[in-house]
Amino acid sequence: MSVIETNSLRKHYGRIEALKGVSLKVEPGQIYGLLGQNGAGKSTMVKILLGIVKKTDGDAYLLGEPAGTTNVRRRVGYLPEDHQFPGYHTGRSLLHFYGELYGLSRDERTRRMNEALDIVGLKKRADSKIKTYSKGMKQRLGIAQSFFHDPEVIFLDEPTDGVDPVGRKEIRDLLGELKKEGRTVFVNSHLLGEVEMISDRVAIIHQGEMVREGTVADLTRQANRFSIGLADGQEFPAAELKEKGFRVETANGKAEVELPDGQSIDPVLELLWAKGLKLRHLVEQKQTLESVFMQMVDKATDDTDRRAVRKARPVTARRVD
Ligand SMILES: Nc1ncnc2c1ncn2[C@@H]1O[C@H](COP(=O)(O)OP(=O)(O)OP(=O)(O)O)[C@@H](O)[C@H]1O
Ligand SMILES: [Mg+2]
Repeated sequence: MSVIETNSLRKHYGRIEALKGVSLKVEPGQIYGLLGQNGAGKSTMVKILLGIVKKTDGDAYLLGEPAGTTNVRRRVGYLPEDHQFPGYHTGRSLLHFYGELYGLSRDERTRRMNEALDIVGLKKRADSKIKTYSKGMKQRLGIAQSFFHDPEVIFLDEPTDGVDPVGRKEIRDLLGELKKEGRTVFVNSHLLGEVEMISDRVAIIHQGEMVREGTVADLTRQANRFSIGLADGQEFPAAELKEKGFRVETANGKAEVELPDGQSIDPVLELLWAKGLKLRHLVEQKQTLESVFMQMVDKATDDTDRRAVRKARPVTARRVD
């Protein structure tokens, strides 16, 4: 059973169409990233799944129940975007407060407290008032609040919002820990590099519509482009490969080979070996999630606005040898 499932989910706020029929599935134990620009519909999606906002049409299920069912809420954690915890609470008293809301007994709250504070690195400041916390500390407390009652699924709406690079790395590691414990994590973000590093699967939504969905590896792979380097002093047989129908560019002692659709790299390697040439590196070209995202957004914009200018996007390399 999927942890989250939506089918043709729609949401209108008056005349604004926030979601225009989004279908996705999240399986147990995944970190699932929902990506999109400001206003794409990410928070709306989470709010519908949690029953905070009512859908207009389509289906949304959470833990096998229609979204919004109250008994499911107990099994779910949530870090809202732009949360404002009362500044007069301390980290510790806030967790007691939320723990109580979720029905944890005092003993249970006390038993879990130090571990939760420790996991998010707030043990030392647990008894300071929240109004003295930095933005990053508030975010980490918010994440502690989201998993304090031991939920199966955790929704984090922009968990690294306003957090510095060190803090962001810590939050990423923290999400990895939550996953290791077997929890499912649903993350909303517009920080693509971030999501690329932690998510098992991602969905890209643009103006309420799903434009891509898949594993990060699938979305960023460019299986038909390879960068090949030979041992020092050896010359790349570019002309011969071109004759065989490959597109080849050489620069700085390396060759970029583009395979025709559906072709494998094997014939290229066989030719190199047959000529007694030695490989020094072989790298499958990989796009960043950001470049995939920008292409998608350009395309989606292009489809509705022919005047949009499509720009060339950089690619980065990933070693496959
Ligand atoms: N309560 C509301 N009333 C009217 N319109 C709303 C409401 N909430 C959201 N919207 C609109 O719905 C669309 C999607 O908003 P949503 O907050 O889901 O986007 P988002 O992807 O979370 O954006 P961000 O990255 O800025 O948080 C936007 O056009 C927004 O203005
Ligand atoms: Mg949002």
